[in-house]
Amino acid sequence: MENITLNNGIKCPVVGIGTFMLSPAAAENSVREALKMGYRLVDTANAYVNERAVGRGIKDSGVAREEVFLSTKLWPSEYENDSAVDETLERLGVDYVDLLYIHQPAGNWLAGYRQLEKAYREGKAKSIGISNFEGKYIEELQKKWEIVPQFIQVEAHPYINQSELRQTLEKYDIKLMSWYPLGHGDKSLINEPVFTELGKKYGKTGAQVILRWHTQMGFVVIPGSKNVDHIRDNLNILDFTLTDAEMAEIAKLDNNRRYYHRTDAQLEQFAAWRPDFEKR
Ligand SMILES: NC(=O)c1ccc[n+]([C@@H]2O[C@H](COP(=O)([O-])OP(=O)(O)OC[C@H]3O[C@@H](n4cnc5c(N)ncnc54)[C@H](OP(=O)(O)O)[C@@H]3O)[C@@H](O)[C@H]2O)c1
Repeated sequence: MENITLNNGIKCPVVGIGTFMLSPAAAENSVREALKMGYRLVDTANAYVNERAVGRGIKDSGVAREEVFLSTKLWPSEYENDSAVDETLERLGVDYVDLLYIHQPAGNWLAGYRQLEKAYREGKAKSIGISNFEGKYIEELQKKWEIVPQFIQVEAHPYINQSELRQTLEKYDIKLMSWYPLGHGDKSLINEPVFTELGKKYGKTGAQVILRWHTQMGFVVIPGSKNVDHIRDNLNILDFTLTDAEMAEIAKLDNNRRYYHRTDAQLEQFAAWRPDFEKR
């Protein structure tokens, strides 16, 4: 597995498995199978209400805890809950996570960020991150952070390659982790002629070409899947390299198109909602 080195010296695998919208049973299965086939990065969140299942998937995989880069996210309802980090660790069944995000710039997000910094100092989070903090939010945080985050997680795929945000990230050596790397499975993205053509050239599927593009952009990818064949394909992307000309061709698809449009009203709703953390 290829790794990237974060701004605090820690290494993170460039490909992982995402678990958004996976039921506890599906998340447990996908995480276990992914780790058994060689994945070493797993992404979840308080809000996915599958953290206990992800923890079981890790244990059942037989892969040692210290070999897994485990990423999760505090939800806004937890930003002012002083026990939020410990409760998250308890659900996951671990005594540290490798990466802890604040999930949304909603509610008292600065209190949430302070919790991340505290968890980092205490060794409960080996690295920290901000999720959905593009634009004015990262600008505001820059004035207040005591520890520079290692990661930002944002929507990124060939229709939106985050060129503006990347200028700020380069300044602080913050890595980008792409969510919706396959456009949440959008067939019109995956079947763009350029990906079909490159897939034929390299003996890969369109989805694999897209994921390889992410890693060559310097992004970490965490495609979500409950299909074991897709999970296997998504890991099998590091044995070919797109040329500069091919990367430039793919860059032409960027039209700043997001699949998910978040509004200020939604941020307020996020702050008011508390996930029904699963008991199982
Ligand atoms: N921070 C945030 O706010 C945020 C938001 C969204 C997501 N995320 C994170 O990012 C991860 C990725 O996002 P996502 O899972 O929503 O979207 P995604 O990875 O872009 O797409 C997932 C969809 O693509 C399909 N798929 C996966 N591999 C495929 C392949 N090789 N060929 C064809 N189809 C394939 C999956 O279906 P099958 O199950 O049939 O394979 C699923 O429907 C999430 O799981 C989560 O960890 C974070």
